[in-house]
Amino acid sequence: MKVSAIVYTSNTGFTAWYAEQLGQRTGLPVYPLKQAVSQLGAGSRVIYLGWLCAEKIQGLPKALGRFNVAAVCAVGMSRTDIANVEQIAQQNKLKDKPVFYLRGGFNRKKLDLVHRLMIRIASQGIKRSPAGTPAAELMQAFRKGSDWTNAESLTPVQQWLEQDG
Ligand SMILES: Cc1cc2nc3c(=O)[nH]c(=O)nc-3n(C[C@H](O)[C@H](O)[C@H](O)COP(=O)(O)O)c2cc1C
Repeated sequence: MKVSAIVYTSNTGFTAWYAEQLGQRTGLPVYPLKQAVSQLGAGSRVIYLGWLCAEKIQGLPKALGRFNVAAVCAVGMSRTDIANVEQIAQQNKLKDKPVFYLRGGFNRKKLDLVHRLMIRIASQGIKRSPAGTPAAELMQAFRKGSDWTNAESLTPVQQWLEQDG
């Protein structure tokens, strides 16, 4: 059975953008998780995309409980050369599934109070980081926002879908 849909959870829109781009590239239908639950049959084979919050892929437990999740994309704000996909897989208890990492962005204006507070706490530890370091880049994004989305980073995901999906 092939993957029949793309399902995602997005808070500020970056994961939604990747899901839509992947949909355009593959022709697969795209659903936010809530909608997928009501519109897709339980056990459907899907690829799941979720944003990272404190190292957890948001919506993943629900997606795993409802669908046959064939592969997972985690969308975060770490640089792609720094993000540790194996660690993300481990922290999210994804043993045997392919896991991909995509760099999203940061939009403070779209965050609710709880998430803003979490960022404020996280920024305490990095606000005096030397210029040019990854931490300083994150701090800059916390202050001014940033968009690192890049459709090219979907190429391995698309290839996996075409070959193994
Ligand atoms: C409270 C909070 C915690 C976050 N934790 C992580 C994290 O652990 N790892 C990471 O790479 N990005 C983390 N991020 C960054 C988000 O994953 C990133 O902004 C992502 O692009 C959001 O996607 P969305 O627009 O689909 O919601 C965090 C963001 C917030 C607001």
